[in-house]
Amino acid sequence: MKDLAGQVAVVTGGASGIGRGMAERFAAESMRVVVADVEEPPLHETVQAIRADGGEAIAVACDVASWSSVDALRDACTEAYGPADVLCNNAGVAGRGGVAEASLKTWEWCLGVNLWGVIHGCRAFLPDMIERGSGHVVNTASVLGHLCSPGVGPYNVSKYGVVALSETLHLEMQASGTGVGVTCLCPGLVSTNILDSERNRPERLLDDAGRGSLNVFSDDDESETLAAVREVYKHAMDPSVVGGMVLEAIVAGQFWLFTDGHFEGFIAERHRGIEAGGAPRSGRSIVETLLGRPLEQ
Ligand SMILES: NC(=O)c1ccc[n+]([C@@H]2O[C@H](COP(=O)([O-])OP(=O)(O)OC[C@H]3O[C@@H](n4cnc5c(N)ncnc54)[C@H](O)[C@@H]3O)[C@@H](O)[C@H]2O)c1
Repeated sequence: MKDLAGQVAVVTGGASGIGRGMAERFAAESMRVVVADVEEPPLHETVQAIRADGGEAIAVACDVASWSSVDALRDACTEAYGPADVLCNNAGVAGRGGVAEASLKTWEWCLGVNLWGVIHGCRAFLPDMIERGSGHVVNTASVLGHLCSPGVGPYNVSKYGVVALSETLHLEMQASGTGVGVTCLCPGLVSTNILDSERNRPERLLDDAGRGSLNVFSDDDESETLAAVREVYKHAMDPSVVGGMVLEAIVAGQFWLFTDGHFEGFIAERHRGIEAGGAPRSGRSIVETLLGRPLEQ
């Protein structure tokens, strides 16, 4: 996809972090942007900010975990700007917990947003792109779609799913010569509100114990570890940089988009381990990797 000016982009989870970075960058490129999010105050604030900067955008309240909501998003896009040229399936939440301990509600919430959200987006927008013979889908996965870490089972599973879906979709689009491109965005560490994603957990999927911790890593809200991880995120890559990378990947028709090199060695090591037929090695958890030190037991 070469000239993006005037093209229509839909960004889910567009009211914060990486999604907002993409929406703002697209609008700066004279694209018409449909910003979709479940959290309405920042959604409207984002669209106002884009318009104040001279960009063109509309806000659509949308819960990507719900098929009818994403179906309505596609209709709202078509009605406002016409069919989408670019779809960014980006909304995501950090579902924490070990495989044996995470509640079923946590699994449902995390897979509902992170994986079903991508499936819903593809199912709603792809038929039209294929019929028109052009378009580009950007799916936000993660380095945790390539590396497993103890303690983030639901998130890991959802992101491996997004990687598999994206690779499959790319092969299918190529095989049938549809003209539709795919990018699998695998951020490493980006300064966003992801650590506070419990803010968007729906009432019906609250854990029995209540809303619980805002901390994706521990039950202790104000733990030293959480404070240290927050500090790491505060100084991480700015989402606007990721927005620029995504724009370039769309123009170049690039499939893999890793935002930073932090995790390259770990991914290579995992691949070598698979080739050697070994079991996963007990390395550092994602938190230990982020902090660059082992956690005290
Ligand atoms: N920040 C990082 O370092 C990092 C690393 C790897 C992957 N990611 C992925 O990037 C994506 C964006 O996350 P972020 O880091 O910008 O976090 P963020 O919390 O700043 O943004 C996520 C957005 O998704 C929205 N959202 C949550 N549930 C939704 C739902 N059901 N329907 C629609 N929107 C919903 C939130 O309201 C929010 O605006 C996610 O898929 C996340 O897993 C982030």
